[in-house]
Amino acid sequence: MNLEVIVLAAGHGTRMKSRISKVLHPIGGKPMLHRVLETVAALAPARTHVVVNPNNAAIAPDFRGFDVNWVEQPEQLGTGHAVLQALPEVDADHNLLVVYGDCPLVTAPTLHRCVMAAQDGLSLVTAMVADPTGLGRIVRDAEGGVQGIVEHADLAPHQCSIDEINSGILSGAAELFQRFLPQITDANAQSEIYLTDLIEKAVKNDISVTAVLAKDPSEVSGVNDRIQLAHAERAFQLREAQRLMRNGVSVADPARFDCRGDLETGVDCSFDINVLFEGDIKLGDNVRIGANCVLRNVRIGPNTEIKENSIIEDAAIGRDCAIGPFARIRPGTILADNVNIGNFVEIKNSRLADGVKAGHLAYIGDAEIGTETNVGAGAITCNFDGKSKHRTIIGDRVFIGSNSSLIAPLIIESGAAIAAGSSVNRTVASDELAIERAEQRNVKGGGTRFRKR
Ligand code: UD1
Ligand code: CA
Repeated sequence: MNLEVIVLAAGHGTRMKSRISKVLHPIGGKPMLHRVLETVAALAPARTHVVVNPNNAAIAPDFRGFDVNWVEQPEQLGTGHAVLQALPEVDADHNLLVVYGDCPLVTAPTLHRCVMAAQDGLSLVTAMVADPTGLGRIVRDAEGGVQGIVEHADLAPHQCSIDEINSGILSGAAELFQRFLPQITDANAQSEIYLTDLIEKAVKNDISVTAVLAKDPSEVSGVNDRIQLAHAERAFQLREAQRLMRNGVSVADPARFDCRGDLETGVDCSFDINVLFEGDIKLGDNVRIGANCVLRNVRIGPNTEIKENSIIEDAAIGRDCAIGPFARIRPGTILADNVNIGNFVEIKNSRLADGVKAGHLAYIGDAEIGTETNVGAGAITCNFDGKSKHRTIIGDRVFIGSNSSLIAPLIIESGAAIAAGSSVNRTVASDELAIERAEQRNVKGGGTRFRKR
């Protein structure tokens, strides 16, 4: 069976009240249309056509990763008219599947069921919903056979109680679309050429029509405004959380979990509440993420714990590390194994070797730090001289005292120590102690005098 798919994405999306095309609004961090194309690609169709309007035709480059044929619908005269624009490019011997670009949660198994149900006739995906307002309703005869679809605006009073709705997903031989669609008129409340009228046409011509009921109505709910967008987002996130839980991840509260990208996990990972994942995330086994963390394009090795309120971006973290609470790991950071980063420590574009510890209040930027080096509280790399950035190279088992300023470019060799409070700007050789601070002076009775003041 050769399948072609038409994705409708030419509508103006007026109800979004937006300057950008509706199908570009994101679900789980990716444009709605991206989600739909990803799902469609799982069916491995011979060709996928996307119908766009002249104003949103410029979106094509955003979808370079997909092999699609872009078709323009010059005027938005309805969903039937949109399909008519692509039909001349569809092989009459192929099967056709039509999906709407504003229905981002549909799954490949549901599309597959629809295609399989078409056989010699047409098939469509329907759903039973609590509130069918605004949607096309499925009209059935006394025997339960599908007779047609009536759009919300065209409902007769006795049809208002119908709670089976049309999802917009429709399949059948391309030849049936090519035969009947040109016969459809715009004699309806919205003066549009409705794709949905194809059903009644087919029934009248003794073509069998099969309704495939969606198991989960949220899967086929369309997005017309930003309220529906938020509902679809929540449904998507719940599905994503459930997928992870099935794969051995503990999610403290699926309603407070957000993934806007691609998340790969090992087993026994656990996510506390309000964790946000963005971009590409790969987590090893038993990675624990505390409440209120944000992770963007991050790799984390097994058994590492990210404690509450930490923000990690474009970074790789090894195994058995402890990060946070309140750690900020910025782009270009690579932490080896057994690294310990405590509260209010910021690290940028730096490489920390095995067993490095920076427990409190430090800034490490453009640095390389060797094995088991200890960075004291308040220590900072002064990596910027007002014009350019410079590197700080620190060896193995170095002790960086609290509140020291390491003025880059700077080399501190293995085994060296920096006394607390020192400003260091010259190379410290192996095993040397650098101390740079005024000598302490103790004044007899000074304490008493101070208190009297
Ligand atoms: C449509 C269906 C309705 C169904 C609902 C499901 C029709 C007539 N109605 O209504 O039965 O219950 O979807 O969500 O099909 N589009 C074009 N060109 C156009 C008009 C629309 O490409 O001229 C595209 C839109 O971009 C959108 C899709 O077709 O992706 C559906 O259009 P929309 O206006 O949202 O239809 P609904 O009113 O939601
Ligand atoms: Ca819609």
